[in-house]
Amino acid sequence: DVNGAKYEIFRLKEVEGYQTLPYSLKILLENLLRTEDGANVTKEQIQALAQWNPADEPNTEIQFTPARVIMQDFTGVPCVVDLATMREAIADLGGDPERVNPLAPAELVIDHSVQIDNFGTADALERNMEIEYERNGERYQFLRWGQTAFDDFKVVPPGMGIVHQVNIEYLARTVMTREVDGVLRAYPDSCVGTDSHTTMVNGLGVLGWGVGGIEAEAAMLGQPVSMLIPRVVGFKLTGSIPSGATATDVVLTITEMLRQHGVVGKFVEFYGEGVGSVPLANRATIGNMSPEFGSTAAMFPIDEVTLDYLRLTGRSEENLALVEAYTKEQGLWHDPSVEVKYSEYLELDLSTVVPSISGPKRPQDRIELSDSKEQFRKDIHNYADTDELGAGRPSKSVGVSMEDGREFELDHGAVSIASITSCTNTSNPSVMMAAAVLARNAVDKGLKSKPWVKTSVAPGSRVVTEYYEKSGLIPYLEDLGFNVVGYGCTTCIGNSGPLESEISQAIQDNDLSVTSVLSGNRNFEGRINPDVKMNYLASPPLVVAYALAGTMDFDFENDALGQDADGNDVYLKDIWPDPTEVQKIIDASIDTEMFTKEYGTIFDGDERWQSLETPTGATFEWDDQSTYVRKPPYFEGMKHQPEPVTDIQGARVLLKLGDSVTTDHISPAGSFKSDTPAGRYLLENGVERKDFNSYGSRRGNHEVMIRGTFANIRIKNQLLDGVEGGFTRDFTQDGAPQAYVYDAAQNYQAAGTPLVVLGGKEYGSGSSRDWAAKGTALLGVRAVITESFERIHRSNLIGMGVLPLQFPAGENAESLGLDGTETFDFTGVTVLNEGKTPKTVKVTATHPEGKVTEFDAVVRIDTPGEADYYRNG
Ligand code: F3S
Repeated sequence: DVNGAKYEIFRLKEVEGYQTLPYSLKILLENLLRTEDGANVTKEQIQALAQWNPADEPNTEIQFTPARVIMQDFTGVPCVVDLATMREAIADLGGDPERVNPLAPAELVIDHSVQIDNFGTADALERNMEIEYERNGERYQFLRWGQTAFDDFKVVPPGMGIVHQVNIEYLARTVMTREVDGVLRAYPDSCVGTDSHTTMVNGLGVLGWGVGGIEAEAAMLGQPVSMLIPRVVGFKLTGSIPSGATATDVVLTITEMLRQHGVVGKFVEFYGEGVGSVPLANRATIGNMSPEFGSTAAMFPIDEVTLDYLRLTGRSEENLALVEAYTKEQGLWHDPSVEVKYSEYLELDLSTVVPSISGPKRPQDRIELSDSKEQFRKDIHNYADTDELGAGRPSKSVGVSMEDGREFELDHGAVSIASITSCTNTSNPSVMMAAAVLARNAVDKGLKSKPWVKTSVAPGSRVVTEYYEKSGLIPYLEDLGFNVVGYGCTTCIGNSGPLESEISQAIQDNDLSVTSVLSGNRNFEGRINPDVKMNYLASPPLVVAYALAGTMDFDFENDALGQDADGNDVYLKDIWPDPTEVQKIIDASIDTEMFTKEYGTIFDGDERWQSLETPTGATFEWDDQSTYVRKPPYFEGMKHQPEPVTDIQGARVLLKLGDSVTTDHISPAGSFKSDTPAGRYLLENGVERKDFNSYGSRRGNHEVMIRGTFANIRIKNQLLDGVEGGFTRDFTQDGAPQAYVYDAAQNYQAAGTPLVVLGGKEYGSGSSRDWAAKGTALLGVRAVITESFERIHRSNLIGMGVLPLQFPAGENAESLGLDGTETFDFTGVTVLNEGKTPKTVKVTATHPEGKVTEFDAVVRIDTPGEADYYRNG
C-alpha cells in the first residue's frame, strides 16, 4: 500500500532460503515467481534458484522474462525490420498485422550513427548532425514508421544522447508497475538490450545485460530469455578514492582485477559497508564496463544513494516512494548486516587506486600513469619498425605542413585523437567536471592543445551541456579545441571520423604508429580510427592532459606541459583539479530542473527529425531500391501450421572450421571491399565505394548480410588448408577452390543441396550477434556439428531453424577422419514431429572415395521451448 494505491507483489519472503541469496538472484527469483506458467517457467526452476548453492557450477537452466527492452540504432534497426516482416506475414495469412506488437516496453535510442566529420569549431555539432541526417535519413524514416506503427515502441531521436546514459537518467523505472486483470502489480525493473554495455543500468540496481537481436525480439514479444543460474562473485568495496584518482581509474583497476580473476559467464555483485559511499555515477561507470570484466552483469543494490539519484534526475516522488517501499518489503534494500552467500570473493580498498590508463589494445591492460612513458616505449616496439626507434624512444620525426599554415613534426606515439566520449564516463559528472576544471587551469597557465590532435567532447546526454554551461567552464574546454561534436557514441564506436588529410597522409606515407586517447571502454586494435594503431583509455581530465602533451611518450611527473606567462615550466600537478573544488562546482551546477527540461521532450526531436517524411500504416511499404532497409525472407511461404520436420539428406560441407570461431568470424561488423560479394552487390545497386559504410550499418538489409556471412578476412577454412578471407571449395564445381562462401552457397541452393558446417570447440563465442545465426540459415545451412557451442549462438541457431549438433563425447572431425569432402545424411530428426526431442541423430558421412563414417551426433535442442522454435522453422 503506497501513495494510497494498492499493489500486488510476488512475495520473495514466502520462498524459503531467499534471504541469503545475492541481490541479483533475488531479482531473478521474483521474475520466476511472477512468470511461472508451468511450461517455460516451472516450479522446479523456482526451487533450484531458491536452493542455489554458491559452490555450484552453472548447469541449471532458468527463464528470465525482462520487463523492458532497450536498443540502439545499429542493432535495433534489424529488430524492427523483423517485426515489420512478421506483421506482413500475419497479414498474408489473413490475420490482423497489429497482433505483432511489443508486449514489453521497447525503447530505441539513435546514438551509434553520428560521426565526427567536424571538430574544434562552434558549429561542429550542427554540421555533424546535418551530415548524419543525410547519411542515415532512410533508416531514421523507417524507425519513425515503427514508432507510429507499434504500440509500445519509442524512439529517442539522434542528437539526444547515448542509450545507456539515457537509460539511467530517464528510461529506467527501477520498480515497474502494470495493470493485470484490473489489479495494479509492482515488480523490479529489468531489461535486456541490444548492446553489450546495457549493464550500465546495473549501477541503479536494475538487472540487465546485452543480448542479440533474436533474443531481444523474443523478449519484446513476451518470450523469456534462457539462461543458466550463474555463479555470483561478491566484490567488497572499502575506503574512498584518493584525491589524485578518479572514477575512471577505479573502473580500470576493477577491470584488471576481474579479468585476472576470471568472471566470464558470472554475475559480479558489489557489497559491503563501502558500497553506501559509492556515488551512483561511479556505480554506473563500473556497471558499464561489465563486458570488459567479462561478467554477465555487475550489480549494485538499491539504497539511499539510488533514491537520491532518482530524485536528482527528476523521477517523481510517487516513484521514489514505491521504490523504497517495494525494495524494503521484498528484502531487496541494501542491508550490509545481512550475510549474503557468494560463489567467490574479491575486495578492493578504493584508497589504493592510482591514476591509470589502459592500452594500447585491451581495457584490462592497465598502466599506472607514473609508468606510462616507460610502458609506451616498450609497447611501441610491437607497432613500429625497431630500426626507427632510437634507444627505445620514438625517433622518426616527420614534418607536416597544413594548408592553414600550421607546421609541426609527428613522431611515433603522437596523440592524433583525444576524445571525451562514451557512456562510461560522460555520464559521470565527477570526471566530466574534472576535465573542465583541468581545462580552465591549463588555459589560465597559457597551455594549448597540440595542433595535430583531433579533440572532441561527445556527451551521452544533453544534461552534460546544461551543467557545463551553468558552471561557466565551456569556454575553457573550447579554447583547447574540446567543442561538443555530437550527442552519441562517436569515437567510442569508431566514428571518430577522418583525421585531417595532411596528417592522415603523413601517417600513411611514413607508417607512423600514432595513438588515440579516449574516455571510453574499448580500445581493440582498429576500433577507433583506421590510421591509429594504439588506443588508450583514460579519464576525461587525462584525455585533456594528453591533448596538451600531444604524445604518449610523456612522463607527467617529470615532463613539462609548457610554460606559463612567466616562463615557468607547468606540470600536470600544477593544473590537476582539486576534488573539493570540483565537487563544489558540481553541487552548484547540477539540478533536477536540467533533467526534467531535457527529458521532458526527449522523444520529440528537433525540426530535422520532425520534418522527416514518416510512412504510416500497420505494415511497412518496403522500397525495393533501398540498400539499407529490406524485407528479409524469413517468413516467405509461411503457413498456419509449419511443415513437418524432415531428415536431412545429401548435405555438403560449406566450411570446416577449427576451435573458438566467434560470431564476428561468422558475421563481421566492419568495412568490406568492392570485390567481395557484399561490395559487388552494392556496386550493382548504384552505391559508390565511398558510401559502402560497414556491415554494422547495413544490418537492416539481409542481402548485404548474407553476403557478409563467413566473410571475415580472418576466418580460416580448413577445406582450403586454412586460407583466410571467407573462401571455400564449391563441390557443385568439382570442389573448385577459392570460391566466395556466398557464391558457393548460391550454387548449392540452385542445385537443391542442403549444407552443413563443421566446427570445433566453443563455436559461436564472442557475442550474441543475431546475424551470425540469420546469415547461416539464409545461406542454406541446415545443421552445424561442433565439439561444443557457446550458449547464445546455439540458441540463436535454433531460433533460425538450424540444427545444432555435437560430435560424440571425445570425438571431433579429425578423430572421425572427416576432411569435409563427404556427403552427409542425418536421420532421426523427424522424431520432433511426434512432440519428442531426439537425444541423438544418426549421421552418415560418405567420402567421395566410398568410405562411410557413421556416428550418433548429440542433438543440442535442450528444452521443450527450443524444440518448438525448431519445429516452427
Ligand atoms: Fe556507444 Fe560506446 Fe556506450 S559505442 S553505447 S558510447 S560503450
